[in-house]
Amino acid sequence: KKTAIVSGAASGIGAAVCEQLRHAGLRVIGIDLRNSDICADLATASGRAYAVEAALCLSEKRIDTLVCCAGLGPQAEPVAQIAAVNYFGVTALLDGLFEALQAGCRASAVVVSSSSATLQAWEGNPLRQAYLDGDEAAVQAMLANLPPDLAPQAGFIAYASSKNAVACAVRQRAASWGRAGVRLNAVAPGAVQTPLLEAGLADARYGEGIRNFIAPLSTRARAEPADIAALIGFVASDSAPFIHGSVVFADGGIDAAMRPHHF
Ligand code: NAI
Repeated sequence: KKTAIVSGAASGIGAAVCEQLRHAGLRVIGIDLRNSDICADLATASGRAYAVEAALCLSEKRIDTLVCCAGLGPQAEPVAQIAAVNYFGVTALLDGLFEALQAGCRASAVVVSSSSATLQAWEGNPLRQAYLDGDEAAVQAMLANLPPDLAPQAGFIAYASSKNAVACAVRQRAASWGRAGVRLNAVAPGAVQTPLLEAGLADARYGEGIRNFIAPLSTRARAEPADIAALIGFVASDSAPFIHGSVVFADGGIDAAMRPHHF
């Protein structure tokens, strides 16, 4: 039986991914803060190290599918946690489990980015070098010392920049992972009906912006977690053998509407 590791397994998209992969016949090992096979805090270096160690142990160092869903929304406090989980929590799993993926059967990994990644493009991402260097302290210091005009948007900047950086982390690894025969992709959802989205909508600072983030698709304003899980399941599966290094949008057309000349 193939083995999958899924972070953020206890809720929303991650829970739907677990269901999807189990349905497809995989053995699924979940990682989350609580209510999971591996309970670990991906915001901290020690929590990440524990998660990697436990995943290697439970999988016997052979992983066929890795899905990184764990993440925090722009409303999460403190803001430092957002970059810690959304970027450093993801790259720690990718790099820590890469060898076990190489031992897997036609293995692949999928990272959940966000359509908001394009709102903070890599070229204009003020945190870019710090992310690239893997310098978590520098990222945290920059978020804590934003200019006064940007400070009220700190949560959104942390969120969008981390989602942009994590999509770039996928692109940056595509060449070396490809040579190793392990596929790696990102999925970038628009608004998905989950507790994370509900918390954002309820937040006085970001609620209105999120409410206005409406997909042009008339039949569906928001996705359900299962819609995104179906895409992740496909991209991760043997049915997508040539999809590698891609950032696949599932956003009801939001990105196309905002950036009609970019793809
Ligand atoms: P959710 O809140 O339902 O699930 C996220 C899971 O991540 C939770 O179970 C939570 O406990 C876990 N998590 C958070 N911090 C953690 C930590 N420090 N250590 C371990 N686990 C931790 O949210 P949802 O919406 O399912 O989000 C999944 C991913 O999808 C996130 O990366 C999110 O940024 C992304 N996303 C969500 C969108 C949405 O509209 N819901 C849109 C675009 C991307």
